[in-house]
Amino acid sequence: MNTPEWVEHRGLVAWVNEMAELCKPADIHWCDGSQSEYDELCEQLVESGAFIRLNPQKRPRSFLARSDPSDVARVEERTFICARSEEDAGPTNNWMDPRAMMGILRGLFAGSMVGRTMYVVPFSMGPLGSPIAQLGVQITDSPYAVVSMRIMTRMGRAAAEVLGADGEFVPCMHSVGAPLAEGEQDAAWPCNPTEKYIVHFPESREIWSYGSGYGGNALLGKKCLALRIASTMARDEGWLAEHMLILGVTDPEGEKTYVAAAFPSACGKTNFAMLVPPPAFTDQGWKVTTVGDDIAWIKPGENGRLMAINPEAGYFGVAPGTSYATNPNAMESIRSDTIFTNVALTDDGDVWWEGMDGPTPEHLIDWQGHDWTPASDTKAAHPNSRFTSPATLNPALDESWDDPAGVPIRAFVFGGRRAGTIPLVVQSFNWAFGVYMAATMGSETTAAAFGKQGVVRRDPFAMLPFSGYHMGDYVNHWLALGRTVRNPPRIFEVNWFRRDEDGKFLWPGFGENMRVLQWIVARSRGRALGIESPLGWMPRYEDLTWDGLDFSEQDFFSCMAINRVDWTAELLDVEELFMKLYNRLPKEMEMIRSLTTSALWRSPKNWEMNSDPT
Ligand code: OXD
Ligand code: MN
Repeated sequence: MNTPEWVEHRGLVAWVNEMAELCKPADIHWCDGSQSEYDELCEQLVESGAFIRLNPQKRPRSFLARSDPSDVARVEERTFICARSEEDAGPTNNWMDPRAMMGILRGLFAGSMVGRTMYVVPFSMGPLGSPIAQLGVQITDSPYAVVSMRIMTRMGRAAAEVLGADGEFVPCMHSVGAPLAEGEQDAAWPCNPTEKYIVHFPESREIWSYGSGYGGNALLGKKCLALRIASTMARDEGWLAEHMLILGVTDPEGEKTYVAAAFPSACGKTNFAMLVPPPAFTDQGWKVTTVGDDIAWIKPGENGRLMAINPEAGYFGVAPGTSYATNPNAMESIRSDTIFTNVALTDDGDVWWEGMDGPTPEHLIDWQGHDWTPASDTKAAHPNSRFTSPATLNPALDESWDDPAGVPIRAFVFGGRRAGTIPLVVQSFNWAFGVYMAATMGSETTAAAFGKQGVVRRDPFAMLPFSGYHMGDYVNHWLALGRTVRNPPRIFEVNWFRRDEDGKFLWPGFGENMRVLQWIVARSRGRALGIESPLGWMPRYEDLTWDGLDFSEQDFFSCMAINRVDWTAELLDVEELFMKLYNRLPKEMEMIRSLTTSALWRSPKNWEMNSDPT
């Protein structure tokens, strides 16, 4: 085997040899991460029919991939945490005995790369050499995964050099599970339509993914390493691996405040991370900059603060709904050098999706390659269609996004997609109440995962599909970490998605979220006022800036009201979650639930903003 001279790690070479022996690829390609390698692989994908080159005038150096219709999202029911003990994986994860699972996987991977090239992809999650970063090496037979990994991570020779001769790396094994017999025509999107396994071994820190080519299942640095495996590392080593965006808010005096925010998949993390404030704010000099849009790794720093990095180097964003109206920075980030997956193709070789600016084109080719017109009763783009684009193309990229030291976090924000119950914004009374807020978060399910959409499910920390261990221990880890940090961030809960009886959103969202963010920043610096509600501290109408938005006091009250009937259902649902996690859940959680119950029921009626708090 032709190992390049820049690979010095004997353990890595031995592992690659062993995997090649198992998977029987036609050849092996060590990825150096160069532009020329990327260009050649894209060219090869165009020739094989896997990529459609978009019109270079409209979308330079950009491509469209169409997945197999069965391979469009993460597959939570096929995702496993194979801890030695089932109890450690906890009731919210699928579990199988690691030895039994390894037996199954070895059987599936045997010969799985016949007729294909095996790519070896060294990568760094986080700035190269950062004390918060981690290294991984992905073996894959998917060139689509390779080019996507080049956008999403620091990949290739530079990562292998940081690894050196004896560094530690997380082995990430991936096969689309579609061996190719000699002379057989390859599918445009090879995958295994019947068998998929996304498997994590938290104790040996290994990942094995079989059968899917879709992003979240195939780009193993992202959900598998940066969340599931990293969350177990973080528990063991005293840090946090979170499903959070990181943004910086600069005020007119030039003071910068970093905020990390957790929302479940497809709830607007990318939009919030790239928020453009309304003119009333930008005119005064307010600015929002992006550190990351999906994942944050956070370590206690010597300065007594929590320091955060974005382990990724690109955005794997949901396309539908993205427009110049909702997210101009994302639209700018995808003007070139972007891979689109499962969006629609226009007649002039550009891309389109539902919710894009301008009129709907008269004719499109939909995500499955069929003719589509506005009269069609299907979506032109799949609801979970994506863009994969380099962070460096984001005009709002924060100047410290690549800083190995990370950025200091002053506020954590948690938010679900909730049609009712949860108010627009609340600040927790203290760290433990904040952990309770995060642990009890609920959200309506979205297209990012396969399955039914629009049902409220508990999604603690927006990590339900991503925690590598027992969710009760997860809550405990957060509680414990807060006690060790001198200046812990303040914790807030938000809900941009509240609706009226007709289903209309009560809050305008997007750039207008700046109004709430401004209050969060001020509170995290001990500057703004708030009043005590049964759930925590809330801004009064006059505590937010309303310039340039027609939003009455009454409108605000309807976003903020706390309704007892809704809260009865909420607290019962939370109790059900707590029962499920009971034997590992810290006792503080049940106590805070009781305190919340009594705070709600000891006030004489529904708690409303406009009731006189004196
Ligand atoms: C994602 C997800 O792709 O959360 O970021 O599903
Ligand atoms: Mn995500």
